[in-house]
Amino acid sequence: MQFMLNQTPVTLEEYAPDTTLLEFLRTEVVQRGTKEGCASGDCGACTVVVAEPDGDQLRYRSINSCITYLGAVDGCQVITVEGLSSSSEALHPAQQVMVDHHASQCGFCTPGFVMSLFAMMHQPAKLTSEEYIYQALGGNLCRCTGYRPIIDAAKALILSPQSTEQTDEFAKRETQLVNTLRQWQADKDASALTLKGKNSSFFASPRSMNELLSLLNEHPDARLVAGSTDLALETTQQLRTLPKLVFTGHVAEMRQIEDRADVLQIGAAVTYSEAESQLVQAFPAVSNLLHRLGSLQVRNQGTLGGNIANASPIGDMPPVLLALDARLRIRNAHDVTEIPIHEFFTGYRQTCLTTGSVIESIILPKLGEKSFLRIYKLSKRLDDDISAVCLALHLTLDGTRILDARLGLGGMAAIPARAYQAEASLIGKDFIPEELHEAQMALADEFSPLSDVRASAEYRMKSVQNLLLRAALEYQSNQSLEVMHYAHLD
Ligand SMILES: Cc1cc2nc3c(=O)[nH]c(=O)nc-3n(C[C@H](O)[C@H](O)[C@H](O)COP(=O)(O)OP(=O)(O)OC[C@H]3O[C@@H](n4cnc5c(N)ncnc54)[C@H](O)[C@@H]3O)c2cc1C
Ligand code: FES
Ligand code: FES
Repeated sequence: MQFMLNQTPVTLEEYAPDTTLLEFLRTEVVQRGTKEGCASGDCGACTVVVAEPDGDQLRYRSINSCITYLGAVDGCQVITVEGLSSSSEALHPAQQVMVDHHASQCGFCTPGFVMSLFAMMHQPAKLTSEEYIYQALGGNLCRCTGYRPIIDAAKALILSPQSTEQTDEFAKRETQLVNTLRQWQADKDASALTLKGKNSSFFASPRSMNELLSLLNEHPDARLVAGSTDLALETTQQLRTLPKLVFTGHVAEMRQIEDRADVLQIGAAVTYSEAESQLVQAFPAVSNLLHRLGSLQVRNQGTLGGNIANASPIGDMPPVLLALDARLRIRNAHDVTEIPIHEFFTGYRQTCLTTGSVIESIILPKLGEKSFLRIYKLSKRLDDDISAVCLALHLTLDGTRILDARLGLGGMAAIPARAYQAEASLIGKDFIPEELHEAQMALADEFSPLSDVRASAEYRMKSVQNLLLRAALEYQSNQSLEVMHYAHLD
């Protein structure tokens, strides 16, 4: 594999394929500015920036290097805190603002924040808003300075009048780097190994479905890697060895978004950040959920395909896809099938995918004129937390009369599930608080949620029943009943 570490080309062949990028940085090239806090994507201390060609420019995204496999950065530029300043005297603007605003005390979290600031500075102009600052820094934890000075630093970096003139060595070398990275991509052989360890391999080269499927045919024991925001935890938390990995991030068919009149089709290896604008345009209710799905670093890596295949009962997107009656396009070396998502989950963390089969894309039927879609995620913390309960409700209404109903639930059973009985009892009724009792009782009949660290069974049931009521009140009043309490930082 080849990648650019800051401005230095790196070529590797022999390396354990389940090595994380963080491990490589800290132990192989001994760049220890990038820190390890949690090794599970939660703290942002390990944030680095990955740049890839997008047209004739580079696209920069912040990622958590602790949950990124080294092979996944094949063909990219990896920017670390060590590479930011162009001379030993001058700090990079993303570093200088932290100094100017007294935004660092012990300094452990600081390289991660600086890298998130660097990535933010390199986003298109439309993302330079105060709201975006909260997103850009939402995946970085600081335990001693407090966030106010850090947010002040971020504002100074992107919102101040002089910030528009800020540029850096990375921006100046962009065209040259795009050409180099493109040349590397062109020279790649589809069946070539990216990394080879002792009895282990990482394949990052498949560029098409055919190349991917023939590799899987040859290596039926290989695991697919998309964003690795679930899979890498098997390496860092469960200390498992994953001997064969096949990366989906360059497979053209899995990287496309097709926006057709009646459906939005999203490739399984498209990240949340990449899909966001089209997803939100077609389904505005998804916006809030997406902003609360992990952190920006996680959304810059994680994919819809990985969320579905991971089959967690508390994954955020499956309830939405159930409510929308999405279909999955599944392929193996011999066959292409399309199945409704409600047939996909077969048991706790089990799916109907067979060996050698891959989710190629997700097909989401668009909303009708009479559609009403609401998505509620309840978690202990607003940002970067997994759901205790998630309800996605999709009704077709004629005035207040419910013509059709689909309810997708997360956290209520061993799998993400439709609430068929509640749906049946809603159809034909008016969507008003007085007519919900039967559907609320049907939820209690159909589901027996668990008590665990996130929530008790009683809380889960009561809150889902009440969310149904909230949806009806929101429909009736035509406004959101969300209560937000933000600490005022100004
Ligand atoms: C800090 C943190 C916060 C998180 N917060 C949330 C959250 O708020 N909500 C939420 O829902 N999730 C959350 N997650 C979980 C995770 O980010 C999502 O599930 C994500 O969508 C997984 O996608 P991925 O591309 O990273 O999958 P990967 O980790 O690459 O893969 C996951 C599994 O799916 C398989 N797979 C991947 N792609 C395919 C495919 N196309 N076909 C078949 N199998 C495939 C892999 O082999 C693997 O078994 C969080 C994770 C972290 C680390
Ligand atoms: S070390 Fe905490 S997110 Fe990577
Ligand atoms: S400065 Fe110490 S954790 Fe942030």
